Amino acid sequence: MVRTQVGIVGGGPAGLLLSHLLHLHGIESVVVEIRSRAYTEQRIRAGVLEHGTVDLLVDVGLGDRLKREGLVHEGIELRFEGRGHRIDLAELTGGKTITVYGQQEVQKDLNTARGAAGGQVLYEVADVRVEGVDSDAPVIRFRQGDEQVALDCDLIAGCDGFHGICRPSVPATALTTYDREYPFGWLGILARVSPASEELIYSAHERGFALLSMRSPELSRLYVQCEPDAQVDDWSDERVWEELHARLSGEGLVLEEGPVVEKVVTAMRSFVAEPLRHGRLFLAGDAAHIVPPAGAKGLNLAVADVRVLSEAVEAWYRGRTDLLDAYSQTCLRRVWRVQHFSWWMTSMLHRFAGDDPFERRLQLAQLAYVTSSRAAATTLAENYVGLAMGAAA
Ligand code: FAD
Ligand code: DHB
Repeated sequence: MVRTQVGIVGGGPAGLLLSHLLHLHGIESVVVEIRSRAYTEQRIRAGVLEHGTVDLLVDVGLGDRLKREGLVHEGIELRFEGRGHRIDLAELTGGKTITVYGQQEVQKDLNTARGAAGGQVLYEVADVRVEGVDSDAPVIRFRQGDEQVALDCDLIAGCDGFHGICRPSVPATALTTYDREYPFGWLGILARVSPASEELIYSAHERGFALLSMRSPELSRLYVQCEPDAQVDDWSDERVWEELHARLSGEGLVLEEGPVVEKVVTAMRSFVAEPLRHGRLFLAGDAAHIVPPAGAKGLNLAVADVRVLSEAVEAWYRGRTDLLDAYSQTCLRRVWRVQHFSWWMTSMLHRFAGDDPFERRLQLAQLAYVTSSRAAATTLAENYVGLAMGAAA
């Protein structure tokens, strides 16, 4: 039998950052993760960090490489009907920006920091279960090699992503879930070629949505809207490039092709499970909510949750329970604001199967408004760079 103060299930960005923040408050934790460290560091996912996410990472000592290698962007482009329209994020938000820095780089930085501080992150464990969360002595049970381990905790954080075991371990009657699946997915590639634009381009094309992003001056990250059940094999490199050319080109944008080094299909959904707490189990990040990626919010929302949770846990150890009691409510305000923004971006930018001409005219009218009205552009910009941490939304 081993014990710790906070047991953390899942060593993705939410779990590792929570462990790091608790450590800075002098609180001990153990992270259990089913995958290998190498696997978690190679998983290519999010790329956009909000202004507040960057500030937090810098403040807690995780900013060295981020500041050196992260690409700071002051604007994004919305493209429709063959024309690009720039949204000047910095000008519309009093100087705020976003930073393009791959999630796997955040993951590496977190691992390095946990390692340097002697943090316990147990990789490749199996058969993880949480028990006793209704009592004041919750336990995480798992297998490490041949050994069965029972980890006694004061509190458990469920940071094990959408397919983890923490949320399903809460009785169904104690959770309300809200779910929406979209009738399309994204096919994403990483290509060894210099990005065709310095800024991200979100294109709402007749043939479907496309997104141009990047990871470095030599690496492009590109997405095309695809069928919800598409397989990577349905999309030869030639087909991907053909769609990217068709959906992104125009107005001087010349898309150079390069070797495709990664290709993946992502389904699109909106999901929230409420509340984020059951007894001594606290859900954070994708374990509690999923947003469709058009708003670039998933990782940022996970960071916002664990920031609130770490501060609430620190107060709880000092005898103040109100912040932990309010954890779910505090996070849900931001979660629902971000849900709305992500749904709104998704609805505005994609072709819906069988969408009627009326719906298409509405999308174009909305795009024209967002790119011509300062008030509408400001709404997009302030949500995209991220509303202030701790603000009502
Ligand atoms: P995860 O990263 O899913 O981590 C959960 C961890 O728990 C994993 O390491 C998993 O192996 C582990 N685990 C699972 N089950 C168990 C178990 N039983 N026991 C122990 N461990 C377990 N977000 C953005 O902010 N911006 C973007 O631009 C963006 N783009 C995206 C693009 C794509 C293609 C995808 C797929 C996602 C994107 N996201 C984006 C979302 C973002 O990647 C997630 O929101 C983020 O990874 C959430 O972090 P997390 O730690 O909550 O969950
Ligand atoms: C990236 C992903 C997103 O979902 C998004 O909205 C913008 C950029 C990316 O992977 O770079």
